[in-house]
Amino acid sequence: MADFPARFESTLLSWYSLAKRDLPWRKTTDPYKILVSEVMLQQTQVDRVIPKYGAFLHAFPTVQALADAPTGDVIRLWSGLGYNRRAVKLQECARAVAESHGGKFPQSVDGLKQLPGIGPYTAAAVMAFAFNKPEVVVDTNVRRVFFRLGIGSEREGLSEDLQGLIAGNVSQKCSRDYHNALMDFGATVCTARAPKCESCVFNKQCVSVKKYTKQQMEDVASRIFKTTQSKFEGSNRYYRSMILKEVQRKQGQLVEELAKVLSMQKTLSEQAPLPAVAQARSLVRQLEKDKLIAEKNGRVYLP
Ligand code: ADE
Repeated sequence: MADFPARFESTLLSWYSLAKRDLPWRKTTDPYKILVSEVMLQQTQVDRVIPKYGAFLHAFPTVQALADAPTGDVIRLWSGLGYNRRAVKLQECARAVAESHGGKFPQSVDGLKQLPGIGPYTAAAVMAFAFNKPEVVVDTNVRRVFFRLGIGSEREGLSEDLQGLIAGNVSQKCSRDYHNALMDFGATVCTARAPKCESCVFNKQCVSVKKYTKQQMEDVASRIFKTTQSKFEGSNRYYRSMILKEVQRKQGQLVEELAKVLSMQKTLSEQAPLPAVAQARSLVRQLEKDKLIAEKNGRVYLP
């Protein structure tokens, strides 16, 4: 395994001081607000998260406010971010903090991981961004940065080797800035598509600078992008989201009525083998199991 480039942290932090993005969750160290941002940022792009983050915190400014809210309101404010189960889990977490921790978040990875919906990544991110603790926070972007520098693997999870190497290099004092810098670097310079190797502060030491020419990266990325786009349309997640939006628009509808929004989809006949009512019933059952909706006397409501 390659060594870290010389003066990695100081070079990265100097770059960050000039190039940092102005993101709303960087203006706070409140663990609740950091958690909201981290959960929203799982599987949703920064640009789409920014307006939703502001609106969500306006409606639920504290962990207690989120704990006390009707779940339907939480789902409504989440709408547009996708993966709505995250909203229900986030509220379960807020309720656990409000009820069992007196409204205060634990200040350790182990304590945070005991809370509903918080896994190792989110726990480490809250420790770094809220409490400035030197935990290792490695998401897909950060893994790619290290991989291109010759450290670790792009596909693997966080191997012990990589974790150890990064842990040894995480600043003891500047964990918050260090991780923000890594994320910005992955999002704006060492991007998945068309990385900006010409202006990269590590381009003299980077083992990938020759390999990833601009054109190659653009070609690969456009292929990946096309598959991801078409994967959503016609997927189970796509139809679930359609049903949930329809329930948000009008509560108390029968499954047969909800099925109409599926039938209106022109792709339905190609993509969905079930008749619309049967499919709607199956989707309603799934959404109910995930506590995103509730069925009463055959009519469907937000919880
Ligand atoms: N992705 C996940 N966490 C993030 C953060 N704190 N800033 C920017 N992008 C992120």
